[in-house]
Amino acid sequence: MRQHAPQIEIVGNATAVAERAAAHIVARLRNEHAVTLGFATGATMRPVYARLVAATRAGDVSFRAVSSFNLDEFVGVAPQSPGSFHGYMQEHLFGHVDMEAGRARIPDGMAGDIAAEAARYEALIAAAGGIDLLLLGIGANGHIGFNEPGSDFASRTREIKLDEATRIANAGNFPHLASVPERAITMGIATILEARSILLIATGSEKAAALAAAIEGPIGPACPASALRLHDNVHVLCDEAAAAALANRPHNNNRRTA
Ligand code: F6R
Repeated sequence: MRQHAPQIEIVGNATAVAERAAAHIVARLRNEHAVTLGFATGATMRPVYARLVAATRAGDVSFRAVSSFNLDEFVGVAPQSPGSFHGYMQEHLFGHVDMEAGRARIPDGMAGDIAAEAARYEALIAAAGGIDLLLLGIGANGHIGFNEPGSDFASRTREIKLDEATRIANAGNFPHLASVPERAITMGIATILEARSILLIATGSEKAAALAAAIEGPIGPACPASALRLHDNVHVLCDEAAAAALANRPHNNNRRTA
């Protein structure tokens, strides 16, 4: 597969990143009638969703014609229980925007047969005509979705065992570390690479090494996010702290300050 250079935009801080990311999504929703989005959860996305909610409340944007697919969900965590990504999306976005019920899809981590659920999810994405714009965060270990290091670039939606570091990073949403699930269902790397455009968002110094590995390191399963260099329409939006380990800064015309 051919390699591509992602478009990299560095802004001052996490607030500026959230503003730029939300503006990017709002512009897309205003320019196109029906858009299929891919959503990530996590701390990085919270301020982005807060701005999308504010823009919806202000009447600047509407989610009426939006369909969406979330990247992942924990296995064995009920949608209504704290820590689930169903709950996260309801709390931070779906509960506050005018999206049609039934158009917001999240993998079912409670399915009795996760392999069948994964196949069903892939079929739903295909039936929707694919994902137009996929939002991604990045793990400090370089994961995208829950594709942990070692994930095959040909992987599709499937069950995965979470790295200990990922369980620790998610422990804040659970009563204690022991209750963080060991397994999740995640879109695969091949599924992610089929999105027509990708917006990767990274903030904070704890993401600096992973971001540099993704953009400047070897392309391979040791850094799942490095697979994004096989995609021709990736926009990386990060703050100065997350960009700190990049050897090659983007040219000035690509760079904005807060
Ligand atoms: C979550 C997901 C993960 C997160 C990543 C960063 O749905 O797919 O890849 O985007 O772990 O998480 P935060 O933003 O909490 O650092």
